[in-house]
Amino acid sequence: MAKKKSTPTFRPRASPLKYTKLPPNASQVPPNTSGKTPPRLAPILIGGGLLYVTATCVSMLVFKSKSDTANQNDPEKQQLQNQEMADGGNFDTSPVWEKIAKSYDKEIDWDEFIMGIGVMRRFLIGQAKGDVLEVSTGTGRNFDYYKPDQMDSVKYTDRNQGMLTEAESKFDKFKEQFRKTFVEFKQGNVNEQPAGRFNTVVDTFGLCSCGDPEDALISMADACKQSEDSRILLLEHGRSHYDWLNRILDSNVDKHVMKWGCWWNRDLMGLFEKEKVKEKLEIVKVHRFHLGTTCYIIAKPRLQNKEE
Ligand SMILES: C[S@@+](CC[C@H](N)C(=O)[O-])C[C@H]1O[C@@H](n2cnc3c(N)ncnc32)[C@H](O)[C@@H]1O
Repeated sequence: MAKKKSTPTFRPRASPLKYTKLPPNASQVPPNTSGKTPPRLAPILIGGGLLYVTATCVSMLVFKSKSDTANQNDPEKQQLQNQEMADGGNFDTSPVWEKIAKSYDKEIDWDEFIMGIGVMRRFLIGQAKGDVLEVSTGTGRNFDYYKPDQMDSVKYTDRNQGMLTEAESKFDKFKEQFRKTFVEFKQGNVNEQPAGRFNTVVDTFGLCSCGDPEDALISMADACKQSEDSRILLLEHGRSHYDWLNRILDSNVDKHVMKWGCWWNRDLMGLFEKEKVKEKLEIVKVHRFHLGTTCYIIAKPRLQNKEE
């Protein structure tokens, strides 16, 4: 009888490799015998990221200043403009704001994204509480970041109706969120606000745009309730820590004002050293970013002695 063919079965062969079993807690990484500490990835990535953002911001500043100035080569006109701008605020920017109101968001969305301005707004604006006043509201770029649960009322103001109209229409989608907060929109100059009424005053990128930033700061302090807890929340931009960058800002300020209604070379932190300002408010916290040009500032009003 023919022998039945058996089906081949697979039998793994014992591995010829020999290994020693490691104790359960032993590290999987071979010991470093070279004496050198291996580079750590997190600081390199964070450092690289910061360098990238800074380089991008500087390039944007420089290129933007160049494009702002590109078509302005009439020397006579330029001299006149320089004189007008020389006192740092004697130029009516209202027509500029009315002109750019509709395109403003589109023009600066990308710049703000790259520079991380949204993150700064979120940290800052989330601190607004009680009765809140926002001056120089513009197109309402802070709406997203308020926490209505901690706010009793909010008054949004701006000198230029075109900007405020944009803000009002944008606010439609936030109405439900703010249903328990009293909301008001009112056209008005930063220095025309009622005194002693607000727990928080907010101003983002407004001090670079108004005629007299010193006066604006004093008015913001006056608008606060006389309380230890009142706060002025500011996100602003101005002069850098570095002279080379300040020279670029200085030499292009006139054209920048004409195009953007903004004096980007103001000494923002210097404003807080002015006697009149120091009498009215004090800084609680400051952070500076983008080579010192962006200032995140929390201030509070100085309590006035009623007997004075
Ligand atoms: C650069 S935009 C900032 C808008 C907004 N706060 C933001 O963060 O995007 C400056 C705004 O300040 C307003 N503005 C300029 N001068 C003002 C003044 N004296 N009083 C109140 N608002 C003023 C302009 O109309 C404009 O809307």
